[in-house]
Amino acid sequence: MCGIVAYVGYRPAVAIVVDGLRRLEYRGYDSAGVAAVTQNRLIVHKAQGRVDEFARGLPQRIAGTTAIAHTRWATHGAPTDDNAHPHTDSTGRVAIVHNGIIENAGELRAKLELEGTVFVSETDSEVLAHLIGREVESGSSDLATAVRNALTHVVGTYGLAVLDAQRPGEVVAARNGSPLLIGVGPRETFVASDPSAVVAHTQQVVHLDDGEIATLRPGTYSLMRDGRATTRTPVLVDVEATAYELGAHEHWMLKEIHEQPEAVERALLGRLDDRFATAHLSGLALSPREAQAVRRVVLLGCGSAYFAGQLGAQLIEGTARIPARAEPASEFRYRNPVIEPDTLYVAVSQSGETYDTLAAVQEVKRKGGRVVGVVNVVGSAIARECDTGLYLHAGPEVSVTSTKSYTATAVVLALLAVHLGRVRDLSPADGKRLIAGLRALPEQISQVLKIESQIAELAGAWAQRQSVLYVGRVRGAVVAQEAALKLKEVAYVHAEAYSASELKHGPLALISPDIPVIMVLPDDELFEKNLGTVAEIKARHGQVLAVGHSARLADRVDDLLLVPRSEPELDPILLGIPLQLFAYHAAVALGHDVDRPRNLAKSVTVE
Ligand code: AGP
Repeated sequence: MCGIVAYVGYRPAVAIVVDGLRRLEYRGYDSAGVAAVTQNRLIVHKAQGRVDEFARGLPQRIAGTTAIAHTRWATHGAPTDDNAHPHTDSTGRVAIVHNGIIENAGELRAKLELEGTVFVSETDSEVLAHLIGREVESGSSDLATAVRNALTHVVGTYGLAVLDAQRPGEVVAARNGSPLLIGVGPRETFVASDPSAVVAHTQQVVHLDDGEIATLRPGTYSLMRDGRATTRTPVLVDVEATAYELGAHEHWMLKEIHEQPEAVERALLGRLDDRFATAHLSGLALSPREAQAVRRVVLLGCGSAYFAGQLGAQLIEGTARIPARAEPASEFRYRNPVIEPDTLYVAVSQSGETYDTLAAVQEVKRKGGRVVGVVNVVGSAIARECDTGLYLHAGPEVSVTSTKSYTATAVVLALLAVHLGRVRDLSPADGKRLIAGLRALPEQISQVLKIESQIAELAGAWAQRQSVLYVGRVRGAVVAQEAALKLKEVAYVHAEAYSASELKHGPLALISPDIPVIMVLPDDELFEKNLGTVAEIKARHGQVLAVGHSARLADRVDDLLLVPRSEPELDPILLGIPLQLFAYHAAVALGHDVDRPRNLAKSVTVE
């Protein structure tokens, strides 16, 4: 949510930061902007709209080897040229780019206005430019001290990069609750809100901690916290620049759907223990005795991470026989939840940045609970906040719409279920059966991906509908919820998910030829019951597309997508995949910008 990139080095800075913005655009795409220092003057360009458009409007060559840049997802103030970052102070000496929310911006703005400051935007961020400008003008010894003094007035979250026209060759960065890293190369240094913007130049990074302020000069950096110098050596970021390249794929979403076999393979790597028919999860750091003592599991996440958590809850309760439930982290954090010492809390997040999930983790920890993170981004805020954790290893997910991280999360939670089950009553035979099922998943996902053209044809035909009902029972119900979210998110088609067993308690009234139904129909112990639901829908002239295992369904439904059978507990993982492709192709048929769905951005780092 909003992207920051900054450069200080020896090469033309604007070209480098604009290239970084292209890689960060998935974090927000309402407007873009850049500020560079040239001959002790600030040059600022910013505009509403996409990065490519913005880049086309830039002057041919902007001199200067120091620049900051930003791509925005609007929170305070509409996406306009004025509200785009960078923001400058009244003298035009200081420029800032900011991610996060300044909670007391209203109050600060009123005070500054009383002192005569004229604001040109509606953003909360502009107060930072004026506060820092005021400190710089009053003669702070250095820019980092000016930033530090200014931030003492601020309540809120920030990832911040600052330029002072009088200090070319220097950028100051500060972090509180919004991710920021420093990239260090020979004779050049970068700041970015995530590694995608720097890995093409360097893989040596320092993840800033909350409360840290960094001063960057070409090839060097210094850190301070609470006014005192601190040191940290860079770590190698384990992502190749090519991971952020689209290659021959038309969209990131499609690329990532197709990467799922490898993502699942990586999630399983080194974690299947054939000898004891269990999952080997060293990151969990729970002794068998501690695992035995877990009385309940609560999974917390938002959006697709919450739905993956629901799959996990079913797997854990069904396999390990530990009561388990998932809850949206965004609700949990506000309802003063009871935290129990023998409950295992699991925070689920691809980005590791989602503010609501982070706040839920903090709430659990504040009350003495134990939290395990199931996170994709290594070193992210949630990963660091949790007591222990299991990484997904799904590789970077750029598309705003989660696909491969959702699937990899379900796989890691299945491993957790097997692990917890095997310290309890799950038999070795069942452990073995589930491990074989997990091991087969990558190949089975590849098989599902082969029916893409059939899915694309159906999606094209269905995309014109105003509304779609997704229906499933128990395991299928969770698949239906996630699939409905996908269709809403990228195709903007109204979609509602309902459990098959609840249809006749109300929503059956909706069934008509105008509202088609997508039914998740695994060949499990509930198959016959689901056939009853199909009959009820057909009797009311509803149109049904089924996703299931059995060719027997062909004469009962209008359209059928067949997927390979897994173990019943793992079936939901495979059943979700054709519906990701369905949403993708519906969006393409409707001509939508699949990777930049309207109103959304990757990583919701605000409330
Ligand atoms: C899914 O397609 C979404 N874009 C969204 O629901 C996402 O899963 C949610 O915001 C949580 O993100 P996280 O996994 O990074 O915490």
